[in-house]
Amino acid sequence: MLDAAKTAEKTARNAGENLLEVNNIEVIYNHVILVLKGVSLNVPKGSITAILGGNGAGKTTTLKAISNLLQSERGEVTKGTILHMNENVAELNPSALVKRGVIQVMEGRHCFEHLTVEENLLTGAYTRTDGKAAINADLEMVYDYFPRLKERRKSQAGYTSGGEQQMVAMGRALMSRPDMILLDEPSMGLAPQLVEQIFEIVKKVNEQEGVTFLLAEQNTNVALRYAHYGYILENGRVVMDGPAAELRENPDVKEFYLGMSDEGRKSFRDVRSYRRRKRWLA
Ligand SMILES: Nc1ncnc2c1ncn2[C@@H]1O[C@H](COP(=O)(O)OP(=O)(O)O)[C@@H](O)[C@H]1O
Ligand SMILES: [Mg+2]
Repeated sequence: MLDAAKTAEKTARNAGENLLEVNNIEVIYNHVILVLKGVSLNVPKGSITAILGGNGAGKTTTLKAISNLLQSERGEVTKGTILHMNENVAELNPSALVKRGVIQVMEGRHCFEHLTVEENLLTGAYTRTDGKAAINADLEMVYDYFPRLKERRKSQAGYTSGGEQQMVAMGRALMSRPDMILLDEPSMGLAPQLVEQIFEIVKKVNEQEGVTFLLAEQNTNVALRYAHYGYILENGRVVMDGPAAELRENPDVKEFYLGMSDEGRKSFRDVRSYRRRKRWLA
C-alpha cells in the first residue's frame, strides 16, 4: 500500500494540474466573527487531499466556502479567491457547482430519512439529463462499491445505521457523476472498523473512477494513511502542510495529532506542554 500511495502522490505532483485552488480566503460569520484568517490550499486533479485539525479549526467552514454553502449560515467569504479549473467560482450557487462536477457530502450525513436507501441514491441524480439507463448503470456502480447498500436498498434510510447513512450520503454524491467530492468528516461517530471500510471505498473510488477528493477529518491517523497530501488547520490558519507520508513522520504531527511521540503515547498529563508547544507551532 505504501508503494501505491507513493506512486499516486508522485502522479498527482507531476501532473501539476490543480482542479481546485483556494487562495488566501477569509471567512466572517454574522459580519463580525472572523473564522478563516487567510487559508490557501491546492487540490491536484486525481488526488485525495485532506484538511486536518481539531474541532472548531475551520475545516467545515473551508469546505462550505468552496461549495458556496455559507450564505445560509450567515457566513461570507470576505477576501481571497476560489478557482475551479482556473475559473473563479465564488459567485456560483451549489447546484451550478454540481453541474461543474463538484459535490459536497456534508458533515452528519443528512439522508432523507423517510425515503428508502435506493430513493436517496436516486435523488443524487437529479441534475442529470443522460437518461434512465445511464442512471441505473450508475446505481449498480454504487452498489458495487457499497454492497451493504444493495442489501438495504428497500429500507427506510432513517432506520439504517450511522455507517450505512454515511454510505448513502457518499453513494448519493456518486450518483451525480462528480469529478470532485468534498467530504466532510466521514469518520464521525463510526466504529474504527467502519471508518477503515469507508476510507477503503474512498481510495477505490479515487483510483477506479478518478474522482478527486478533498476531505476534512479530525481523525488524522486514518486520513494521513489514505490521503496523498494534507493541510493542518488550527484556529482558521494552515499551520503545516505536506505530503501525507512526510506529515506522518513529522514529530509535531506525531505528538499533537497522532497521539504519540518518541517517548510513546501522550497522556492528558502532557496537556500543559501540549498547550505551550502548540502556541509555538501556530
Ligand atoms: N454559523 C456559524 N456562526 C458563527 N460561528 C460559526 C458558525 N459555524 C461555525 N462557526 C465557528 O467557526 C469556527 C470553525 O468552525 P468549523 O468550520 O465548523 O470547524 P471544524 O469543522 O474544523 O470543526 C468555530 O469556532 C465555530 O464555532
Ligand atoms: Mg466540521
